[in-house]
Amino acid sequence: MKRMFSLVGGITILGLFWYALSAEQNTEKEQIIQGQQVYNDYCATCHGEDLQGGMASSLVDGEWQFGSKDSHVFRNIKFGILHRGMPAFEDGLSDEQIRAVVAYMKNAEQNAGVVEAEPAETVQTLLYDLNVETFADGLEIPWSIDFINATHALVTERPGPVWQIIEGRRLDEPISGTPEVLHQGQGGMMDVAIDPDYKNNGWIYLSYSHALDEPGERRPPAMTRIVRGRLQDNTWIDQQVIWESPPEFYRETRHHYGCRIVFDPKGYLYFAIGDRGASEHAQDVTRPNGKVHRIHRDGRIPPDNPFVDTPDAIKSIFTYGNRNAQGLAVHPRTGEVWETEHGPMGGDELNLLKAGVNYGWPEVTYGLNYNGTVISEHVSKPGMASPVLYWKPSIAVCGLDFYRGDQFSRWNSRLLVGALKYEQVRLLDIKDERVMHEEVIFNNFGRVRDVATGPDGAIYVVLNSPDKVVKLTMAREKP
Ligand code: HEC
Repeated sequence: MKRMFSLVGGITILGLFWYALSAEQNTEKEQIIQGQQVYNDYCATCHGEDLQGGMASSLVDGEWQFGSKDSHVFRNIKFGILHRGMPAFEDGLSDEQIRAVVAYMKNAEQNAGVVEAEPAETVQTLLYDLNVETFADGLEIPWSIDFINATHALVTERPGPVWQIIEGRRLDEPISGTPEVLHQGQGGMMDVAIDPDYKNNGWIYLSYSHALDEPGERRPPAMTRIVRGRLQDNTWIDQQVIWESPPEFYRETRHHYGCRIVFDPKGYLYFAIGDRGASEHAQDVTRPNGKVHRIHRDGRIPPDNPFVDTPDAIKSIFTYGNRNAQGLAVHPRTGEVWETEHGPMGGDELNLLKAGVNYGWPEVTYGLNYNGTVISEHVSKPGMASPVLYWKPSIAVCGLDFYRGDQFSRWNSRLLVGALKYEQVRLLDIKDERVMHEEVIFNNFGRVRDVATGPDGAIYVVLNSPDKVVKLTMAREKP
């Protein structure tokens, strides 16, 4: 009996609760409908029919210049922001109407999928505390980032799309007309690089894995290719192929494509192609794979390239014996090109590139397991350069940039090294050709694919799993 009563009582309470809830939902719905009416009558002329902005700013982009709390928004509508051209509605609208329009806007903002920015996390380093903010997410295997200016970035995704991010917001569609890529294995869309003289010429460079169009081929041979083009709104135009391999060197393998693009102060363009799975090719200068190449930005071969006079050599080769460079960076003061590449089993390398030098792969490597002994007859050979630094076990080096900027001025000219496997960004202090100090400044946020200094002096880190770009800014400078 007692149990029966409590059951009935429970149902009654539940019923009342449900009734109250649905009544609340009804009034909320009514309020939003009323708010929409007010909005259309009084606000749409300036803020746009769909709240996305017009003469005045968008009200659904999650950005509130004058306060995001309902009470702030209410105040801004009631009393206006007169110096900015937002009229006061004190006399025209009742408080109830203003509350309704606030509810309508907040509801629309939620439906626009904009959530309040997550609070930044902070990480500690020796010299600075850093804020970690999400710069772009909803990406699929982002590979690289570069900047047209402080508020305009481009991000590639390995499946192919290239995105514009303007004022911290990704456009709704990727750039149309970018080249078709072969997205298999490690291949796809790779680097994006902005011409050093972009202001005058508008060139943007892309590297990607290109498949030969051979009818009937079940597994088309593929190779790294470099193009440049320009942006017209959100369309890729004026494309020129500035480097491609002779077709006989295309390969059916799907890994070790390279491929970063950098420019030195003289304006030369450097890019890397991995060994494409054929390690012995890295020693053969008549083949393009396993090399770092240097060309003029329009694709011409510099007459002083080291192998221009070598019979049958690929004339764009700058260095050889490079396994798979996933990091290239130019020192801001010396103009030297630095490179990182993965070793086969440990032995990731940091190299300073010099014209015509053989970096040893696969003849010389720290990557073979010599029972923990590092120095052995196999780690160096006459005529082959040793790395400036090697990492064993492998951290899976990926992405490289020298820091240059105002935000972290004590880090100027230090080298940022990304690591996929270790999910880190490391900071290297280099003097001449020696690494004086190494510090992990960013750890465990995801696999680091690329790292870049932005024009704003922030450090941008391209992550895979989770797929996003984060931005490191100054939280505090330590004494
Ligand atoms: C005459 C044009 C005009 C009309 C009409 C107008 N606004 Fe505005 N509103 C502005 C301007 C200008 C600003 C200042 C910033 C900007 O958007 O450029 C602004 C700012 C705002 C803000 C602050 C946004 C922020 O970033 O914090 C809110 C909220 C707002 N308006 C709501 C409304 C609502 C609701 C209505 C209708 C009841 C309305 N506005 C009608 C021009 C207008």
